[in-house]
This record gives sequence, C-alpha cells and structure tokens, in this order.
Amino acid sequence: MNWDTQFAHRTAQMKRSTVREILKLTSQPDMISFAGGLPAPELFPVDRIREATDTVLHERGREALQYSTTEGMAELRGWIAERMSASGKLNVSPDNILILSGSQQALDLCARVLLDEGDRVIVENPTYVGMLQAWKPYMPDFTAIPTDENGMIIEALEPVLAAEPDAFKLLYSIPSFQNPQGTTMSANRRAHLGRLLAHYGLPMYEDDPYGDLVFEGEKMPTVLELEAEARGSRDIDGSVMYAGTFSKTLTPGLRVGWVAAALPVIDKLVQVKQATDLHTSTLSQFITYELLRDPQMLETHVATLRRVYRERRDLMLATLEEAFPEGVTWTRPTGGLFLMVTLPEGMDAVQVLQEAVKQKVAFVPGDGFYVGPEGTGANTFRLNYSNARPERIVEGIRRLGSVLKEMMAAKA
Ligand SMILES: Cc1ncc(COP(=O)(O)O)c(C=O)c1O
Repeated sequence: MNWDTQFAHRTAQMKRSTVREILKLTSQPDMISFAGGLPAPELFPVDRIREATDTVLHERGREALQYSTTEGMAELRGWIAERMSASGKLNVSPDNILILSGSQQALDLCARVLLDEGDRVIVENPTYVGMLQAWKPYMPDFTAIPTDENGMIIEALEPVLAAEPDAFKLLYSIPSFQNPQGTTMSANRRAHLGRLLAHYGLPMYEDDPYGDLVFEGEKMPTVLELEAEARGSRDIDGSVMYAGTFSKTLTPGLRVGWVAAALPVIDKLVQVKQATDLHTSTLSQFITYELLRDPQMLETHVATLRRVYRERRDLMLATLEEAFPEGVTWTRPTGGLFLMVTLPEGMDAVQVLQEAVKQKVAFVPGDGFYVGPEGTGANTFRLNYSNARPERIVEGIRRLGSVLKEMMAAKA
C-alpha cells in the first residue's frame, strides 16, 4: 500500500523537521538540554497532587471518572471566570470559558472554526512554532510584523491595517514573555493594540501561557482587557479570544487549559471540541479544581516558580555574558521560560546545534519560529532556562560558548 498518495492535501504542510531528529538525542541523560519548553520537574507539587487526587476519588470518584460536558467542569469554569474578573476590568461569565486539553487545543480548534484557505493572518515574527504547526494545514497567508525588545511593533502594524482595513481574518500574539524570545509587549503597545482591534473589529488570538511568571514589576493588563476598555465594555463580547493554561503554573501533565471568548465563539468551539475528544479529562479537571480550591496553593506555588526561574534566568544571563563571544547578542526576558540568541549574520544555528550536541548541549534553532523566506532567522536560537539545574546551566552555556568561539574563529 502506498500511503503517500492517500493522505489529504493539507498534510503536505506538515513536515518532519530535521531538527526534531537531532533533538531526539536530548533524552540522553548526560545531555544538557536547553531545548524543551519544560518547567522544572523538581518543583511540581507532587504531594499536593497526590492528596488532591485522593480527595477527589474519595469524595467525588464516580463523577470524576465519568463522561462529562464538553464545556468543562462548572466549578473550574467558575474559578477561572472569577480570577479573570479579579482586576475589575472584566465581568467574565463561566459561559465565556471553555475548558480544553491544554491551551494547544485552542490553537487547533480556533483554526478549524476560523480559517479558510488563503485567509490572511497577522503574526509577530518570530512566533510560536506550535501555532504555525496547528494553522499551516489550513493554508492561511501569514503577514509578519517585526518585533523588538517591547514585543510586536504596533507602530508597524498600524499602517498595515490602515492600508487594507478589511483584509485580515485574525491576529495572533503572545504578548507576555513570548515564546521564543521571552520578550513582553509594553503597556503602551498593548493599549494601542487594544484600540486598533476595537477600531477595525479585527479578531485576535491572545496566547498567554506565561503571563503569571513575572520576575520583575507587576503583571501587565491583557489585550483582552484593553480591547474591552477601548470599546467601553466590561463584557467578553469583543474580538479577542484569550487562551490560558495551568501547564506552566501547576503542571503540563494534567493537560488542562482554557479559552475565554465571546459566546458565539465558545459555541462553535464546543461543537468542534465535541468532535475532537468529547471533553477534557474529567479526572484532570477535578484534580486541578481541588488544588485551586485552596486559595493559598496557586499563589504560593507561582511565587516559588517566579523566584527559582528568576534565579536561573539571572545565572544564564551572567554566564552568557562571561562565556559567549563578541558579536553574539540575546534577549533579556523579565519573565517566562525562554531567551533568544542572535548570532552574527551568515551563521547557521542548525550547524551550531550539530556541533553542540557533540559537546552534549542542545537548544532549538530559531528558523522554525519565523514566518518568511527560507533561511529567515537562521542565525538565531532559543534557550530555555527553567528546566536545567543551576550547575548544568553554567556548564551548558560554557560549552556552547566554546563551540561558538571555535566556529567563529574558523570562519574568520
Ligand atoms: C505560546 C504557547 N502557546 C501554547 C502552548 C501550549 O501549552 P499547553 O497546551 O501545555 O497549555 C505553549 C507551550 O509551550 C506555548 O509556548
């Protein structure tokens, strides 16, 4: 049987990446990997989750093991709605919330209900590779807006929208501690974006897995809040769909995320989710809610994550300063899990990775995060600082520095 001729046309957009093959090596125990977007496993609240699971099975076992509604557990939707309303800027109803199997599912479901072939989608460059993977099979036409240390350059977006006000279907952004750069959209730009979305009635997908992992200063208002403010509303009845998750604040293994959106959007998403997986794991939702019912639990845990990740970020930045050669630059995130390195023009991060894995260090080359002609972002790579222990961060960055120095000396 030749299966290659049987697959749907859209699968032509799905490529197995050579980088993935290299990164398979990262599971070797002596490899220092800065590649995954992984939280620190030693900080997972394992004991609390064991207790919560016991309580759930003891008190509500029959419900927690049964099929459930597609929308998700009522108490959990209520908890999220309340938390999203806590700033006083929004009145979020539990009806605006759909519980998902990780926020990655929101990307898949939104594409399915919103994107037709050729629809034009605005993204920041670089952007989340998992979004590109989820959306490319629907064959949209991406328009890339450049970024700087304050996120998507909204001053560059404005003329694009003004020139073709009705041309775009959707805008995608990760305003807080972006994957892959770790950078954050400034308060002014967020407010500006909120006004533009309200003015043009342009739908936006606000992807926010990292917003709570703030190392410095206060959490920024969401674009969801600012678009509502620009319309003089407190209701989620505008053009922003907001995706959140417990993957980075509790644990990714439970696979519990959510989308908050206007009721017609939720209604459509419920229909496609029903066809996809009926509902998110009931047991996972019950355990998550049992953890969240303790009002101190999440706050205390997130405070620990912020402290530990901030220390690791500081250590990585200090070691980069000490070990990387001149001509190499990097972002300085104020939260989240990642930073991004830029090599001198003409260098190829995939070649650097090939050398680095020989020295037992891994990272993700940046070109997969970019929209644009082949080779865009080839001289960039992403480093994760949340997963490796401090001594491994120092050792790994020093080894990478030596690899870069050698490669740059050979080129000179
Ligand atoms: C920007 C972004 N969106 C969405 C996700 C998906 O996260 P999850 O499905 O675990 O909620 C990730 C995960 O790394 C991410 O970086």
